[in-house]
Amino acid sequence: MTPQPTRRGLLTLGAGAAAGAALTACGSSSGARTAAEDTATVPFHGTHQAGIATDQQDRMVFTAYDLTVSGSVAQNRAALVTLLRTWTAAAAAMTTGSRVPGESDLAAAPPADTGEAVGLPAASLTLTIGFGPSLFDDRFGLAGRRPAALADLPHLAPENLDPARSNGDLSIQACADDPQVAFHAVRNLARLGRDSAVTRWVQLGFGRASSTGSGQVTPRNLLGFKDGTRNILSNDSDTMNRYVWVGAETDQPWMRGGSYQVVRRISQKIEAWDRDFLGDQENVFGRAKYTGAPLTGTKEFDRPDFAAVRGGVPVIPHGAHIRLAARENNGGVQILRRGYNYTDGILPNGELDAGLFFVAFQQDPRTQFVALQRKLGAGDKLNEYIQHVASGLFACPPGPARGEYWGARLFA
Ligand code: HEM
Repeated sequence: MTPQPTRRGLLTLGAGAAAGAALTACGSSSGARTAAEDTATVPFHGTHQAGIATDQQDRMVFTAYDLTVSGSVAQNRAALVTLLRTWTAAAAAMTTGSRVPGESDLAAAPPADTGEAVGLPAASLTLTIGFGPSLFDDRFGLAGRRPAALADLPHLAPENLDPARSNGDLSIQACADDPQVAFHAVRNLARLGRDSAVTRWVQLGFGRASSTGSGQVTPRNLLGFKDGTRNILSNDSDTMNRYVWVGAETDQPWMRGGSYQVVRRISQKIEAWDRDFLGDQENVFGRAKYTGAPLTGTKEFDRPDFAAVRGGVPVIPHGAHIRLAARENNGGVQILRRGYNYTDGILPNGELDAGLFFVAFQQDPRTQFVALQRKLGAGDKLNEYIQHVASGLFACPPGPARGEYWGARLFA
């Protein structure tokens, strides 16, 4: 690929520079670097796709696409491969802070890059692609390549799903520390894909609602609680290999090094929540609101003691969210959470439309997300205040090697 000018006019920030350390902070053109000019980049190529184990950024734009092809299987497949090749080249460029490849300076033609990120840094942009179950129908001849783990999600309480903003043939998760950088990325991918893909739904996320790196401070969700305290840490490679990355156990070798992503738009009844008294809010989660400590401890990272009883009653109540979700009570099962807070105007009843765009990565949703959600759906005290209103399941293939396109091994 021809190196493109970087958005800051820095040719030093080419593909080679991005291939180095897990996270590279490059200086500004003046040599001095300020927080506003932070040009951190996350490598696009590698064993795993970026945007899963890499430190969670502050903003997200998640997009799902439907493919519009209507030719023969061979034609459809060729169109899909062309789309994936084009997207890969553009994604690789944008994650280094470069413009979309192509001519953007001809006065007589629309620019290859839409331009709203010119002058903005890379802002740790990551782009993560996913393949929905519907991609594996007869249109592309991929039915035999569908992983067993990509089984359609069953009905899961408490859900009332809007099909118009659920599912999709393809998904792109764009995360960055600057919302305009994330939006620019999905806008340009949508534009490049217009011959064969239409955007099905979009979800914006502001404010991460999880930590994925050991250096990250635990953020808070919109219910005011620290979220992500006992998440899998991405540097815990044993747990990542056991519960997040697809390995030798898969029936579809093209997915090795990938992961399955479940997304759920979970609406929160925040007005009702705000009227609940503090003690009850803390019993709902089994944690103290301000410190984040389990009700059996004093500090955020104290290990919850699910056996502790006071006055004959469990200190962490039976229906507390963490009691139901904790690995100790689920045969060791864990998931990597990477969700975002969202807000989206007001609901027809006049209440704020806000909640958690829950995102989880795992090796097998059937034994991880689905098993956990069945349990939460049946007994979580939090259910009084939430409803799952949209859903998606995607197979995120392994990271592309240099010169390879996203998901190439699916077609090998
Ligand atoms: C709006 C919905 C949700 C909210 C507000 C929420 C919030 C929280 C909070 C505050 C914690 C405690 C801190 C922590 O360890 O991260 C937590 C823990 C956890 N949540 Fe959720 N959560 C929600 C939905 C879900 C769903 C849908 C799942 C999975 C099906 C889930 C799985 C977990 C797990 C596995 C833990 C860690 C439990 C532990 O090991 O102690 N959560 N959640």
